[in-house]
Amino acid sequence: MGDKSGFNQRLEGLRLNVNALKEVRVHVPTGMAVIPNKEGKRGSLQVYASITTNDGYIGVEEARRGLELFGSELRQEAAANPGKHPNIDLLENIVQSKSRVRTDVVREYSAKPVPESLLRELPVMVKAFGTPFHVYDETGIRQAAKELNAAFSWVPEVDGFGFRNYFAVKALPNPRILKILRQEGMGADCSSSLELQIAQSVGLRGEQIMFTSNDTPASEFRQARDLGAIINFDDLTHLDFFIETAGDFPELVCLRYNPGGLKTGNSILGNPTEAKYGLTREQLFEGFGQLRDNGVKRFGLHTMVASNELNPDYFVETARILFETVRDLSAELGINFDFVNLGGGIGTPYKAEQKPVDLMRVSDGIINAYYNLIENSGLPPLRVVMENGRMVTGPHGFLVSKVLHVARKHKDYVGLDACMANLMRPALYGAHHEITILGKEDAERTHVYDVTGSLCENNDKFAINRPLPEIEEGDVVVIHNSGAHGHAMGFNYNGKLRSQELLFREDGTTEMIRRAETPQDYFATLNFKGSRFSELAR
Ligand SMILES: Cc1ncc(COP(=O)(O)O)c(C=O)c1O
Repeated sequence: MGDKSGFNQRLEGLRLNVNALKEVRVHVPTGMAVIPNKEGKRGSLQVYASITTNDGYIGVEEARRGLELFGSELRQEAAANPGKHPNIDLLENIVQSKSRVRTDVVREYSAKPVPESLLRELPVMVKAFGTPFHVYDETGIRQAAKELNAAFSWVPEVDGFGFRNYFAVKALPNPRILKILRQEGMGADCSSSLELQIAQSVGLRGEQIMFTSNDTPASEFRQARDLGAIINFDDLTHLDFFIETAGDFPELVCLRYNPGGLKTGNSILGNPTEAKYGLTREQLFEGFGQLRDNGVKRFGLHTMVASNELNPDYFVETARILFETVRDLSAELGINFDFVNLGGGIGTPYKAEQKPVDLMRVSDGIINAYYNLIENSGLPPLRVVMENGRMVTGPHGFLVSKVLHVARKHKDYVGLDACMANLMRPALYGAHHEITILGKEDAERTHVYDVTGSLCENNDKFAINRPLPEIEEGDVVVIHNSGAHGHAMGFNYNGKLRSQELLFREDGTTEMIRRAETPQDYFATLNFKGSRFSELAR
């Protein structure tokens, strides 16, 4: 029978919502093998969906991972019974022949719908504002903020407040959005002078702002200090640099910890031992000692070791490491900590079948660690804070674009009026973003396309080998999950202009919260004294 219970446990670990999967189509040399979503096939379906790369392939590395998921007993059974487990045989074949096959993961259309109210309004927005645009759903954003706050409502108050998420402004640096988040009780996590200005513009003040930067200029340290922000130092050398260039330390100071080999990172932030951020454990002892000796009274400890992480246990483990470090630092240096900041990085399900992070499970695990390591060690109450960006706004943003051309070459291409200057995650990380075609939400996904932008870069693709309904020129394409690290990463390469941003308000109306860039914006930096091309900016 093979190792069924081990197999099921490994499938469980994938945390996939199998109902969101329709089938996986594997392009084998003899034609197409389909793994349907039906009794007896669901295990293989999940394995194949999880190992298929975002650009729709299974190669040697993926096949090896798939064979690990099936497990050694099932592999032995497959070897002893030729033909009984064709999905295992195929993976063995890929490894042996060092080949790769194209694989299309087909999701159920309803699996990751655009909210109904927004879907109804999109045609009106397209007409009124033109494409492309990012639109953010206020209801969804507020809901996400409330869920995060509720999960951590147990956090004790220190200096008048308990849990706080300092929204990572870099994820969506639009003051209108930050204002909404401020109303939901969030602070701001800023990494630069301009982000500090955005936080200030919505009325955030003092310790409602965390300043986490690296390779920081003196002027930014001074700006953060003058605002009364909590400064989070990234390196020991920055402490002397601060004193020399900005003056005395504030009363409350935070240090960023890089736990190195204690923690494994992930593909976006990389392995902590290779990461440029934060102090080593030994440096923390030296740094906090130096701060104490320089009159600092209140202390915070921060880390940020992963981005877009879907495993809830990851955050519990991070909290445990920070609590242990606070315990050891307090004992050694005789100082008390106000807070630990677990960083951001709570992931969101970019793929329809991925399950979101269970915040209550994260919270329960952290409570447990808190009681064991802080309360039971007789330490004073410690605030737990975070600085998530993506999980708050990511799933509630949509990049809306029109199809300019449908081209049939060696493959079929859908060319949009948006490009990677509007959303570069797919090109930068090979990230997956779900796509809905307006008015064809329920149509069969009968075609396979590369969905492209217009940059002179072949990686300017929002999706590769993506099963979609048949697409025509003029169709409106909605790219999901653009609400974090989307518009913010925009750039002007190829003379492309950043798009407008819209807010779909709770009352059903739409508000422009950033206009599209104009040629005058693009040429503005040519307008300087002595320039021969100032007229381009007019
Ligand atoms: C220091 C720091 N905090 C918070 C974040 C926000 O991460 P996320 O949007 O994944 O929650 C980032 C992202 O790069 C970061 O570098």
